Amino acid sequence: MSIFEQRESEIRAYCRVYPVVFDTAVNARQTDEQGKEYIDFFAGAGVLNFGHNNERMKQAVIDYLQRNGVTHSLDMHTSAKRRFMERFHQVILEPRNMPHKMQFMGPTGTNAVEAALKLARRVTGRHEVVAFQHGFHGMTLGALACTANQYFRGAAGVPLTHVSHTAFGAQGKAAEQALQVLERLEDSYQDGSSGVRPPAAFMVEVVQAEGGVNIADKAWLQRLASLAKSVGALLIVDDIQAGMGRTGSFFSFDDYGIDPDIVCLAKGLGGMGTPIAMNLIKPELDKHWSPGEHTGTFRGQCLSFVAGCEALSYFEDSHLMEEVQQKGAMMHAALAPLADLAGVEVRGKGMLYGVDVGLGELAKTIVGRCFEAGLLVSACGSGGRVIKLIPPLTTPEADLRSGLEILVEVTQNVLREAV
Ligand SMILES: Cc1ncc(COP(=O)(O)O)c(C=O)c1O
Repeated sequence: MSIFEQRESEIRAYCRVYPVVFDTAVNARQTDEQGKEYIDFFAGAGVLNFGHNNERMKQAVIDYLQRNGVTHSLDMHTSAKRRFMERFHQVILEPRNMPHKMQFMGPTGTNAVEAALKLARRVTGRHEVVAFQHGFHGMTLGALACTANQYFRGAAGVPLTHVSHTAFGAQGKAAEQALQVLERLEDSYQDGSSGVRPPAAFMVEVVQAEGGVNIADKAWLQRLASLAKSVGALLIVDDIQAGMGRTGSFFSFDDYGIDPDIVCLAKGLGGMGTPIAMNLIKPELDKHWSPGEHTGTFRGQCLSFVAGCEALSYFEDSHLMEEVQQKGAMMHAALAPLADLAGVEVRGKGMLYGVDVGLGELAKTIVGRCFEAGLLVSACGSGGRVIKLIPPLTTPEADLRSGLEILVEVTQNVLREAV
């Protein structure tokens, strides 16, 4: 029995899907202890947008350590943090005329969501938050209350209160209905006797990644943004998985014409898998925080600032984002034979794709067979029925093509066997 089976908690999950011991990794490939290579279309659930052991980031971190750069600093000023913040200001915020302040908190996505919820409730004096069906926002109690998945919610141990879930306006047939739901919500908020009061915030992902790769309809999202504004609620965009260039632009909402009050970021922000989380907050809202009120030992880790700073240099010109558009088109074309199959739906944007095969059992078999064939993918969506493809944005074309070939062949075979 391995030490993992002997001592690691039953909570372990991904290691059951990929039952090997991984040892090394470069860009879109991981190698196990036996020397078998895997093409990685999972990429740390969207953390490794710039690949495993990205050469530029690795060198920057090595150099920083070699010169004894400060590695841990709570929220004290460090030169690493200044460089990251200046870069983020110049490369991301200023070109978009975004006046937002940067708040650092504990280094995981769920910490960012917690901080956003707390601030929204503080600013508005309201308790209720509206989140969306199939949304995923993290595992700590406040964020979990926003997460829709019953399996995760069931582990809370206490009632998850003060959040309601309403229809997500995904592109396609559902968008029209979801728009009508928003209209009804607005009517209720305006009717003083409806028993429904406006919320502190709407918490939304522009692309629901864990929820099954559901892409928000533009008219729906704009309507949501205007509803939030008209009822004095904050619009919080959780861009933790779909941000950092994943959809072909730095923010997933860049082409939606909305102006979020708070943006939650984590995952890819640290560049090479070094943890960090950050909220972007409109200055007039940020004024409601008092010093140290939402604290945390690991706020803005310096190694994440160093690697994350290198990640930002990918956004100084349009090269990588053009590549993402082009590789996304490749993914779309390669998946077309699956989209043609009865009962299968392919959805995606940029380099984030989902293949909805309708049944969790089928998806599980496909994920397992892909693994045997040397491809890492994971299942998401209701009952785990969607195979999610979230390869590093830097995946070489040859690896992208090989991985897609494996996925298409395995999926065709599994679906053929199932009829
Ligand atoms: C959209 C979104 N929000 C929040 C989270 C939670 O992030 P973390 O797992 O780092 O707490 C995730 C994680 O997958 C996510 O995809």
